[in-house]
Amino acid sequence: MDRKEFLKSLGVLTAGAALLGAEDTLKAAPVTADELDFPLKGLKAKVKEPVKVIIIGAGNRGRTYSGYAANYPDCIQIVGVSDIRESRKNAMGDRFNIPQERRFGDWSEVFKVPKFADAVVISTPDDLHYKPCMKALEMGYNVLLEKPIAQSEKECTDIAAQAHKYGGIVAVCHVLRYSPYFRAMREAVHSGMIGKLISIQHMEPIECRHMAHSYVRGNWRDSDKTTPIILAKSCHDLDIIRWIVDKPCRTIVADGSLTWFKAENAPKGAPKRCTDGCPHEAECPYSAIDVYVRRKQHLGVFDLKNRKDENEIMAKISDPDNVWGRCVYYCDNNQPDHFVSEMVFEDGTTASFSMEAFTPYGGRRTRIMGSTGYIEGDGTTFTLYEFRSNRKLVWDKKLNEIPEYRNSGHGGGDMALVCDFLEAVDSHDESRLTSTIDASVESHVMGFRAEKSRLSSKKVEVNLRRK
Ligand SMILES: NC(=O)c1ccc[n+]([C@@H]2O[C@H](COP(=O)([O-])OP(=O)(O)OC[C@H]3O[C@@H](n4cnc5c(N)ncnc54)[C@H](O)[C@@H]3O)[C@@H](O)[C@H]2O)c1
Repeated sequence: MDRKEFLKSLGVLTAGAALLGAEDTLKAAPVTADELDFPLKGLKAKVKEPVKVIIIGAGNRGRTYSGYAANYPDCIQIVGVSDIRESRKNAMGDRFNIPQERRFGDWSEVFKVPKFADAVVISTPDDLHYKPCMKALEMGYNVLLEKPIAQSEKECTDIAAQAHKYGGIVAVCHVLRYSPYFRAMREAVHSGMIGKLISIQHMEPIECRHMAHSYVRGNWRDSDKTTPIILAKSCHDLDIIRWIVDKPCRTIVADGSLTWFKAENAPKGAPKRCTDGCPHEAECPYSAIDVYVRRKQHLGVFDLKNRKDENEIMAKISDPDNVWGRCVYYCDNNQPDHFVSEMVFEDGTTASFSMEAFTPYGGRRTRIMGSTGYIEGDGTTFTLYEFRSNRKLVWDKKLNEIPEYRNSGHGGGDMALVCDFLEAVDSHDESRLTSTIDASVESHVMGFRAEKSRLSSKKVEVNLRRK
């Protein structure tokens, strides 16, 4: 008996419960159901020999992916590193015993020597994805490419064309796709547990201080130098929606703006930097002193000697050249702090998405409406309600209790992505990934068109030919 038949039979067996109303359904006791207990993928890649990898951009993300080698040294070997920051280049070089001649500064230096690895990880800033990726493919490397793929629709499609031309695998780091939570949610929809998919509501709460750190003060504050926030932050979400619906997107309409983080909202008498004696420091939720020194959040950008040393952190944010010490109302930012969009897919399925800066939590919130059931998830746990049987099924895997998943960020997605990528490279089989480069480009195009819609106040066609 397959899953659908099994579920149908359950519907018959529990028909008596259908006399209850919708309110009763929502109140029914939750059951951790076997039907949602999809097997967790092991994180140790099945490869014939260690895949040789070069890390280009040894910052936050480069370190994350290279961390896989610490757990599974017989699956991956870090054989080269490139970073314009000597300290980061050498920290990674020393960690993986990379010889001096395989430690490079600018990314372009990597490609001046003959190919010496199976793959490169491109984890440089957003404006340095396109050129290294095009060059890597030309030289026969496979690529683990950080999102966003590139800064324009044309550059994204160029990369897909280059991958096809040279036969290279490009895995885009849409890490959420690889997390057990989203894998299970999609599986529940695709195995028919809520009937026909009708619509999705999805929200990305950024968390107010994360917003201030990355999109007001920090690296992604300027959409022209990086990408519009719908890609820089939310390409994961468009990708997840597209992946769950599994149909081409036809139209998208979007709106939103930068409402709060601008000079006109600065409290009276606030200086340009939080460390210059701001009279509002004690109350301001965005105070750099509070975020970095007291709460010790987002410290990865400072390359500290000792993360507990408050004097060292204070010295960093007091440096007039340090962008993170600035008042959030006096930054050179242009990213919207709220963004809404609506998509219509082939066959009429609809999805709405909102990105919100002003929330006390991060993660994702998702509601999925089907003809016979409903799913509601908070980013770590989801509940599936069956209308007819009145059952309430819960997916609640405690990933931090599963040793190999414990240190894998993005709900387990970071290391699961590396695992799938290594298997895909080893077998030269793109289908080992949940996402081809064409599918990743498609969800990026949705993002570019959403921004076009936001700026033009018009509904925009997406219609892409699916390969
Ligand atoms: N998949 C995700 O969920 C996720 C999360 C965060 C960031 N990202 C993306 O990952 C990428 C890297 O982000 P990050 O947070 O690691 O940034 P980061 O600043 O910590 O790291 C980038 C590194 O690239 C190096 N670099 C800059 N120019 C270079 C050059 N010319 N040649 C070689 N190295 C160079 C920098 O010195 C830095 O160490 C960005 O594109 C970002 O959008 C993805």
